[in-house]
Amino acid sequence: MSFFKKLFGSNKLSTPVDLSVLHCDVHSHFIPAIDDGSKSVENSVEMIRHFYNQGYKKIITTPHIMGDFYRNTPENILGGLEKVKHQLKAEGMPIEMEAAAEYYIDYDFEQKIGAEKLLTFGNNYVLVEISYVNEPDNLDRILFKLQTSGYKVVLAHPERYPFWFNNKDVFQALCDKGIFLQLNINSLTGYYGPQTKKIAEMLIDKQLIRFLGSDCHHVGHIELLKQVVYVPHLKKLVESGYLLNTTL
Ligand SMILES: [Fe+2]
Repeated sequence: MSFFKKLFGSNKLSTPVDLSVLHCDVHSHFIPAIDDGSKSVENSVEMIRHFYNQGYKKIITTPHIMGDFYRNTPENILGGLEKVKHQLKAEGMPIEMEAAAEYYIDYDFEQKIGAEKLLTFGNNYVLVEISYVNEPDNLDRILFKLQTSGYKVVLAHPERYPFWFNNKDVFQALCDKGIFLQLNINSLTGYYGPQTKKIAEMLIDKQLIRFLGSDCHHVGHIELLKQVVYVPHLKKLVESGYLLNTTL
């Protein structure tokens, strides 16, 4: 059985979900050669073309900023953004593009809060991710520190953290604290595993998702994005009226 057939079974929509209604994608890695995403300007343009063809009007790209591993700064991120925008213009692709970052919550990050201006999008949203290995001890404190510094916190792909697979209460508790949850579209394909898919569906059923993002790193993700538009839960989320992508 093919991967896609196994993925969808008989539960496939007959018409694809129209993602152009989202207007904007909020999570991707399209600044060339500064993290584990795009390898070159050409590679970025190739991936962005897919979003343009799907009807997106805007891309907010979010390269990793992570302690010792991806020591990116607003300067190199915004410099890379200009190169990509220049090429989009040269190729006649009228899609708006901005850059923020996907901040990894670690000691380095905590030191930055209040000490320097973080890269944000929209109405002062800051995108953060946490370790896949264990929940950081200081998570609550850092989220609160961000909020009291005036940021609105968006947690990237809450469905992907294994230590929360059996924690039924954590997601509602985060929402109650004013944290915005961002789902990865491809989590609905089973690409990140069956448990992530299950949590993603549960978060949609409970109406806890506020942003939808591609987290696109490479063209392999694009192939999945072409298929995920047939997934019923994606339709349910896009039609829920809870997504804030449209406000960006
Ligand atoms: Fe990401």
